[in-house]
Amino acid sequence: MSTAAPPIPRVELAQAPTPLVQLERLSQELGVELWIKRDDLTGLLESGNKIRKLEFLVGEALAQNADTLITCGTRQSNCCRAVAAVAARLGLRAVLALKGDRPDEYDGNLLLSRLLGARVRYCSDREWERVDEVLQDLAAEVRRAGGTPYVIPESGATVTGALGYLGCGQELVHQARHGAPAFDTVVITAFSGGSHAGLLMARQIAGLGAEIVSVPIAWEAKRVRDYVTDVIGQARGRYGLPVTVPDEIHLIDGYQGTGRTRVREEELQTVVRLARQEGIVLDPVYTAKAFGGLVETLRRDPKALGRRVCFVHTGGIFSVFPFRAELGRLLDGEALIES
Ligand SMILES: Cc1ncc(COP(=O)(O)O)c(C=O)c1O
Repeated sequence: MSTAAPPIPRVELAQAPTPLVQLERLSQELGVELWIKRDDLTGLLESGNKIRKLEFLVGEALAQNADTLITCGTRQSNCCRAVAAVAARLGLRAVLALKGDRPDEYDGNLLLSRLLGARVRYCSDREWERVDEVLQDLAAEVRRAGGTPYVIPESGATVTGALGYLGCGQELVHQARHGAPAFDTVVITAFSGGSHAGLLMARQIAGLGAEIVSVPIAWEAKRVRDYVTDVIGQARGRYGLPVTVPDEIHLIDGYQGTGRTRVREEELQTVVRLARQEGIVLDPVYTAKAFGGLVETLRRDPKALGRRVCFVHTGGIFSVFPFRAELGRLLDGEALIES
């Protein structure tokens, strides 16, 4: 009798490997080799890091014969839009519980989610406080209607989702074997820290040599560290992966800003600067905070993260549009022709 663990269900969704691009001008300015892994280009409507997570989450959903994906987030949630896109692609239904009222006009990710056919349940602040129950209520409604639901927590934050970033780490190792740099440090945005946990697992399982650092953009540092610790423990318990929690979980802390629905000028400036310097667009509430934190760290000490640093661009471009007014004001302040 074989004792091999059964394969982990997975559905191929991502356009991978995603490109690695050196940021030439910024590298020169900062005095390091700074690269970017274009995980914003994983496909299915530029769904960024979420597609890697959804490969495993939806793999599990299909293994359970689910026909309806249920998840939650802010009105501009990238994850909700990615779930809507995957559901449409695979002929499933998507139901989203979103924080806040229905806006007067659809925009950005919410517009796309609706366009892709997702049904939306808007949640008041009080409902949002017990959103896990709202998700279970929605699942019960789907069951009553004869469907089979699969619930995905906010940001795909489960151990199953984190396996997607174990895959990303494996991909970095493969790319290094085929001519890409072996990075000293890989830096990634953290909401829950699930992507960070996946990359840490790749250090132990796939031989990824880089130090992994994440930049929390909403939760306080301790909560991210606790979540990363928890996910690695679960990966061992649930999937039998030979992983342990490292002694230190490295973060660049202090860039949480004002949450995920408002933005500060410094974050918009980061979006504008990278767009103009390298032709790459970040999003204002996730990746711009993380990239801003990385650049500030390197400006203070170009050697802080080693000689070769890679930033993983986790996507989010559609949330640029709801900030059109703030961005417009910033961009209108400049001369037509610079001398
Ligand atoms: C663009 C973007 N980057 C990063 C993240 C954070 O991912 P994680 O929850 O794995 O830390 C998210 C999701 O919340 C996101 O939408």
